[in-house]
Amino acid sequence: MLIQENVSLHEYNTFRVAARARFLVTLETLEDISCFLTDVRFHDLPRLILGGGSNILLRDDFTGVVLLVALKGIELLGESETHRFLAVAAGENWHGLVRYTVEQGWAGLENLSLIPGSVGAAPVQNIGAYGEEFAEVCAAVDVIDMTTGETGIITAEDCRFAYRDSRFKQAPGRYLITSVLLRLPKRFVPKLDYPGVREALADAEITPRAVSDAICAVRSSKLPGLEADQPGSAGSFFQNPVIDADHAAKLRELHPNMPAWDMPDARVKLSAAWLIEECGWKGRRVGDAGVYEKHALVLVNHAQASGAELWALAAEIMQSVQASFGVSLQPEPVVLPLPSSVCASNGAR
Ligand code: EPU
Repeated sequence: MLIQENVSLHEYNTFRVAARARFLVTLETLEDISCFLTDVRFHDLPRLILGGGSNILLRDDFTGVVLLVALKGIELLGESETHRFLAVAAGENWHGLVRYTVEQGWAGLENLSLIPGSVGAAPVQNIGAYGEEFAEVCAAVDVIDMTTGETGIITAEDCRFAYRDSRFKQAPGRYLITSVLLRLPKRFVPKLDYPGVREALADAEITPRAVSDAICAVRSSKLPGLEADQPGSAGSFFQNPVIDADHAAKLRELHPNMPAWDMPDARVKLSAAWLIEECGWKGRRVGDAGVYEKHALVLVNHAQASGAELWALAAEIMQSVQASFGVSLQPEPVVLPLPSSVCASNGAR
């Protein structure tokens, strides 16, 4: 296992915040994880498990040990009449996996193209986009319980997947995800209903690869990529809020154009991007921290913004949406150290 001390995390988070870690430990094998767990130097230190660093905002230096999960490998375990079963190590790049599958002609992951981050991070926040969620293709998740050092397999049902949520997100640091077991359908049922996807396909033959290409085109037109000339970001910075029906009825009356989706439990999901844009934030910049000009849900680091500056901007946005609409926004990425204001909610949890 590779141990580094007093390291900048600039390269290890997609916001490109230059926070430092007291220790950075790279885990390339399961033996590395056992070594880490028995190493007394690390026993009393706080831990942070990092995959691609695409879903985290570091407001400050991390005074403990950051664990970089770099386990690699993609293996087709077997097939049934209806599905393929694929074991993928947590340190694989998510989009690399998606492209690998579509190159084989396999369906199931194409709508989740171009999502930044690692395979091990996918179950944590149950990544989702363009009508598909990780939960739909997950059979099980292999973990190490970091409190006992025991290995275990958690079935998809026991992962408690919900909108951008799972048992892993609810218990940060408890489980280190080592690999995921995917269950990919052999029958290709393209999901093309999201606005813009059919148009991006144009006249192409509809294959998993063509759909993946179309999703990449749609996504790139709205969200910053990971290239060096693109601003740092963590994708959507806020979750879409869910509010009660009475509150939604009042808002709908005042704002007839407001996007809103009725949920099966009678509550109503709103578009955080729309609320933020209405408050005048889209494209605004405070120093190097800003709101992306093509999508109001994305906070960006134009160059040298610190995590504290990005968080200050997020807090201002949350306050103005609260003041204008009475809706409390929740960050989607993990914000560390956790600010006390993040505990407020719309009663959604
Ligand atoms: N909208 C605005 N202003 C904007 C952007 C969007 O008013 O600047 C409104 C539009 O009315 C649009 C609606 O918001 O119809 C929804 O926008 P969009 O289709 O872009 O989806 P989203 O709800 O903002 C979610 C996910 C994205 C995912 C897209 C596509 C969350 C928090 N975000 O965004 O996920 O790519 O749908 O499925 O659920 C991510 O999690 O990092 C992420 C990028």
